[in-house]
Amino acid sequence: MKASTSTSSAAPAHNAPLPPTTSSAGRSSRIAPHSHIKGLGLTPEGFASNDTAGFIGQTNAREACGVVVDLIKSRKFSGRALLLVGAPGTGKTALALAVSHELGAKVPFCPMVGSEVYSTEVKKTEVLAEAFRRAIGLRIKETKEVYEGEVTELTPTEAENPLSGYGKTVSHVIVGLKTVKGTKQLRLDPTIYEAILKEKIVVGDVVYIEHNTGARVGRSDAYAASYDLESETYVPLPKGEVHKRKELVQDVTLGDLDAANARPQGGQDIMSVMGSLVKSGRTEVTEKLRQEVNKIVKGYVDQGVAEVVPGVVFIDEVHMLDIECFTYLNALLETPMAPTVIFATNRGNALVRGTTDIISAHGIPVDLLDRCMIVKTDAYTREQIGKVVQMRANIEGLKLGPEVVDRLAGEGEKSSLRYALQLLTPASILARLAGRTQIEVEDISEMDELFLDAKTSASMIGGDST
Ligand SMILES: Nc1ncnc2c1ncn2[C@@H]1O[C@H](COP(=O)(O)OP(=O)(O)OP(=O)(O)O)[C@@H](O)[C@H]1O
Ligand SMILES: [Mg+2]
Repeated sequence: MKASTSTSSAAPAHNAPLPPTTSSAGRSSRIAPHSHIKGLGLTPEGFASNDTAGFIGQTNAREACGVVVDLIKSRKFSGRALLLVGAPGTGKTALALAVSHELGAKVPFCPMVGSEVYSTEVKKTEVLAEAFRRAIGLRIKETKEVYEGEVTELTPTEAENPLSGYGKTVSHVIVGLKTVKGTKQLRLDPTIYEAILKEKIVVGDVVYIEHNTGARVGRSDAYAASYDLESETYVPLPKGEVHKRKELVQDVTLGDLDAANARPQGGQDIMSVMGSLVKSGRTEVTEKLRQEVNKIVKGYVDQGVAEVVPGVVFIDEVHMLDIECFTYLNALLETPMAPTVIFATNRGNALVRGTTDIISAHGIPVDLLDRCMIVKTDAYTREQIGKVVQMRANIEGLKLGPEVVDRLAGEGEKSSLRYALQLLTPASILARLAGRTQIEVEDISEMDELFLDAKTSASMIGGDST
């Protein structure tokens, strides 16, 4: 079992390994531009008077979202959804993320874009159902027998490999562990050695080991170096005996459990090994399987082993969904285990996709619109754009010369906040090419010569053709 907080760790009661989550990389890269957003930044009374938590301006929308957060927390938001509308780059995605932050640190946030439902392999409704499952977390508490301590010895013992004539293989590994109270030498299975190599465990690390897995907790603080900046976490020598009962907390999502169980569990016989080689990654998660998983989860909850943590599904560009998806969403919203749903769109009146004649606000059918609480995001002033630019520059570790913020704010006012933020990275490259560590106004000017903002480029083409 890896770090106890990781969402991708294996489910304890199922031995099925979790599939590599291809979507999680996409998820984090979609969240990365918002890393400065820490929450809605409201006062206890619910006012957004100051620019805390990384959120600048947008006071009305923030306060409205604050009310929604209160509704969610008091369980009065079920069957409803939050709809964020506003021009591109006005912070809709940022708001959705802030709402999920406000709901709690370990609340799952599952962002998707409307057009993701159009896959040739998976049904539209299936994509939605999966997103909803991924947004429901399960916090599993378990007391396990573990060995914990600082590694004092790590010796793999080799033996002849029966499979390759002259090769050798690790037959077992000797691990010495030390705690405040005592020391112990363990003789462990070779599979644990793989885990040890994978976690890059060396003598002096504090680890815990259970069954056939080992996880690194950190480096023992006896080895703490005196660097100011270091990625290593130092932990004290564990207390108590080496062998002990330890409470482990794991966060998984229902989506993870579904996927883990949809995989062929793999028998030991040769046919099933061959079969799993040929079969490609994705096995279908059926409704029946979901019901099974639900049943197991309910059992855990009843026993007090697990706790359900409803998260947030964020569907960006919701106008891209079609009528089938919308009706299905209505049904999903009413399921007992539904997460909080947040939609975002930058369209006004639009044709509902999949129909030929229904024109509706934001391209959403009326019956779904009726369930939505709509919050509008406002355009930014020059000063606000400047503040966001400065904040992003700090986060990305870029130094800005005098008047650069003002210049970028001007660019942002002409086009959009996103455009202004987008200019930061190329400007830093130009600055570096010029041998500077700091971005100067001339870098921004040079970029104006190299690149165009959308309005200018469109007007130039338009000017040519007329
Ligand atoms: N009020 C704000 N305070 C701080 N940062 C902001 C604020 N509004 C937007 N941002 C940042 O500006 C960038 C663009 O905002 P965001 O992606 O949320 O816009 P959007 O409304 O979702 O746009 P789109 O309609 O194109 O999806 C993001 O990096 C976001 O974190
Ligand atoms: Mg967005």
